[in-house]
Amino acid sequence: MAPPLYTNLPKSTTIFTSPLCTFIVIITLCIISLYTLHHHTPPPTPPPPSTTAQHPPFISAFLDSASNYTISNYLRHLTLHPHLAGTPPSSAAVDYVKTHFESLHLQTHVTNYSVLLSYPLHSSLTAHFSNTSSPVQLPLTEPGLGSDSEVVKPYHAYSPSGSAYGKAVYVNHGREEDYRALASAGVNVKGCVAVAKRGGGMSRNAVVAKAAEKGVVAVVMYTGGGGGVGGGVERGTVLEGVGDPLTPGWGASGGDVERLGVEDGEVLRRFPTVASLPISAETAAVILGSLEGAHLWKDVDVDRVGPGPTFLNFTYQGENKMATIQNVIAVIKGSEEPDRFVVLGNHRDAWTYGAVDPNSGTAALIDIARRYSLMMRMGWNPQRTIFLCSWDAEEFGMIGSTEWVEQNLANLGSKAVAYINVDCAVQGPGFFAGATPQLDDILVEVTKKVTDPDFSDSTLFEKWSTTSEAPLIQRLSDVFSDFAPFLHHAGVPSVDLYYGKDFPVYHTAFDSYDWMVKYGDPFFHRHMAVASVWGLLGLHLADDPIIPFNYLSYVLQLQNHTHSLYKLLERDDVSLHPIISSIQELEDAAKQVKDEIKKMREEEIEGRVSVLRRRMLNDRLMFAERGFLDSEGIKGRQWFKHLVYGPASESKLGFFPGVADAIYESTMTEAKRQARIQHEIWRVARAIQRAAIALKGQLT
Ligand SMILES: *[C@@H]1O[C@H](CO)[C@@H](O)[C@H](O)[C@H]1NC(C)=O
Ligand SMILES: *[C@@H]1O[C@H](CO)[C@@H](O)[C@H](O)[C@H]1NC(C)=O
Ligand SMILES: *[C@@H]1O[C@H](CO)[C@@H](O)[C@H](O)[C@H]1NC(C)=O
Ligand SMILES: *[C@@H]1O[C@H](CO)[C@@H](O)[C@H](O)[C@H]1NC(C)=O
Ligand SMILES: *[C@@H]1O[C@H](CO)[C@@H](O)[C@H](O)[C@H]1NC(C)=O
Repeated sequence: MAPPLYTNLPKSTTIFTSPLCTFIVIITLCIISLYTLHHHTPPPTPPPPSTTAQHPPFISAFLDSASNYTISNYLRHLTLHPHLAGTPPSSAAVDYVKTHFESLHLQTHVTNYSVLLSYPLHSSLTAHFSNTSSPVQLPLTEPGLGSDSEVVKPYHAYSPSGSAYGKAVYVNHGREEDYRALASAGVNVKGCVAVAKRGGGMSRNAVVAKAAEKGVVAVVMYTGGGGGVGGGVERGTVLEGVGDPLTPGWGASGGDVERLGVEDGEVLRRFPTVASLPISAETAAVILGSLEGAHLWKDVDVDRVGPGPTFLNFTYQGENKMATIQNVIAVIKGSEEPDRFVVLGNHRDAWTYGAVDPNSGTAALIDIARRYSLMMRMGWNPQRTIFLCSWDAEEFGMIGSTEWVEQNLANLGSKAVAYINVDCAVQGPGFFAGATPQLDDILVEVTKKVTDPDFSDSTLFEKWSTTSEAPLIQRLSDVFSDFAPFLHHAGVPSVDLYYGKDFPVYHTAFDSYDWMVKYGDPFFHRHMAVASVWGLLGLHLADDPIIPFNYLSYVLQLQNHTHSLYKLLERDDVSLHPIISSIQELEDAAKQVKDEIKKMREEEIEGRVSVLRRRMLNDRLMFAERGFLDSEGIKGRQWFKHLVYGPASESKLGFFPGVADAIYESTMTEAKRQARIQHEIWRVARAIQRAAIALKGQLT
């Protein structure tokens, strides 16, 4: 028998002192021997590859080989040092993941891209309070972080460099409605330095863009509520959109690639025009406590909004520079359909130590690799090809995954079955999932097979479905992780999984292994649960003879969206009829496919289904999602091609982004606005119709 799988761990592994190691070896040998006992077929020489569909016991082998020891060990090593994308310590993290994949005998490669990243050089913030004559230096880093710290000082990547001096003014979340409230209270924000609180559905770059539009000269942002405890400061990107700014729409691979100049209009469009910095909630409280002027938003941690009398003197200097980023990719080649792809992905780069964000997910990904590898030694091979992807530079704007998707667009568009994303796998208690609706059923089914990590007498599904707020499964319109290029650009059905939300150490220096052990997941059972759901989804998508997609769920969700839209548009002079009839077409197609699947399953038992017939049906299931793509994309954000799920300029609707943009358009005449809404309704209707025709699989 081959040596146990973890003897190849790097020598620095210290958690595996020998008694523990021996214990795990014994456990694993037990699992293997239990498995072989059960089958009476100990394989001295491995038999030809089998899939989980042919041998359901592989599913139990996968579930039974979960281990909190291995996951916690992976996480501990990944989080020893900060590993910001493009910096030297990030290559140690690359090596860690690569070495593990390779030591598990998985075919592994690294894809490099040369992209424009952004780092801080110098920053300062002083306050001129009305009660003292000399300015007061405000802290911009976390307490205890000296200038020699290996953690990058808090900053906003891609903020322009700049200095500004102006009265401090509080702008709440920095939304249009917030500025409207300020204006009606007689507050003029022009020439001021704005203090904004993160939230209200506003991305960092949206806050800065809106502030610039209002004449603000610099922005400082803090995280209120649960966020930013203990002086934590939330780093983040203020780049608009996703992917490398210099190679919009194509992969930034190698040296011989077209790159736009940094002064190109298309590049500049994505950078904010006003400088910004993140500050701690404590620093924000000092500034806000010194303001006079109008009372607004009395319910929150602010009394008066200013402007002034406090002045802020703001300076930020950063540099945007070319850096190499690296995706690490392990491939498990499919035995029957190697040209059909199931992609599991997680990013690896972190603002600081990244214990939650994102390496709880990376630890889970490596553990899935370990467990799949174990199954391969037992003779398993997936029917379709599985990719395990560790992305780089997600924090700067999903750059690693986006470059890869852009580079491989034609192959992914024609061969990718699904993408399953995990970013912050564990942030605390409570399971959360987002998915495109045809994946709802399989997601639910899989969570019924996994034990709840916090209540071992129930399944994950039981607790999830009884304690979670409706809806149980969220939709993936917002751009907050690596599913964006797969779903919004390439139309690949996608899932996103995580435990807990709104964790207080988000993007701060306190996102460490210690925090995880103390608060996030003391026994690493939630990590195991996420890995199990993630890995099982991968197994079903790669091995089920018929891809487990149910488009009737999509129909239901689209009907629900249309109903919400109807209520919103009751007073408008537009018709939803085009969408309603295209959903009807999709329903007819989905019902037809459901019958075909039922028939095929019956015939399969009699062995009457040819490989080709099954594949033709699977291709229709796979391609239907691509129908929602539109070559012109969302107006003003054309890289985003999906007309059902994608980012709107104000994330109020959560679906049909083009329609949402038209509804919340405020600069047009009412008649033009109505016409634009109607046009966007027609575009969505045509997209749904394309999906229906793809699902039917016949030319009209
Ligand atoms: C990728 O970049 C790294 C670091 O710059 C380099 O060591 C490695 O050789 C590159 N790999 C490939 C496949 O180009
Ligand atoms: C001046 O005001 C600031 C902000 O309100 C406060 O933090 C500080 O303690 C005050 N200083 C003095 C000397 O009163
Ligand atoms: C703002 O701070 C800079 C140093 O960071 C200083 O040179 C400048 O004079 C200050 N401006 C005012 C108005 O205090
Ligand atoms: C759509 O579904 C959500 C979640 O299940 C539900 O809360 C909402 O009421 C539904 N909306 C309509 C208009 O049916
Ligand atoms: C793994 O879980 C067990 C309980 O099931 C616990 O005793 C142990 O401490 C956990 N190990 C780690 C490394 O968290």
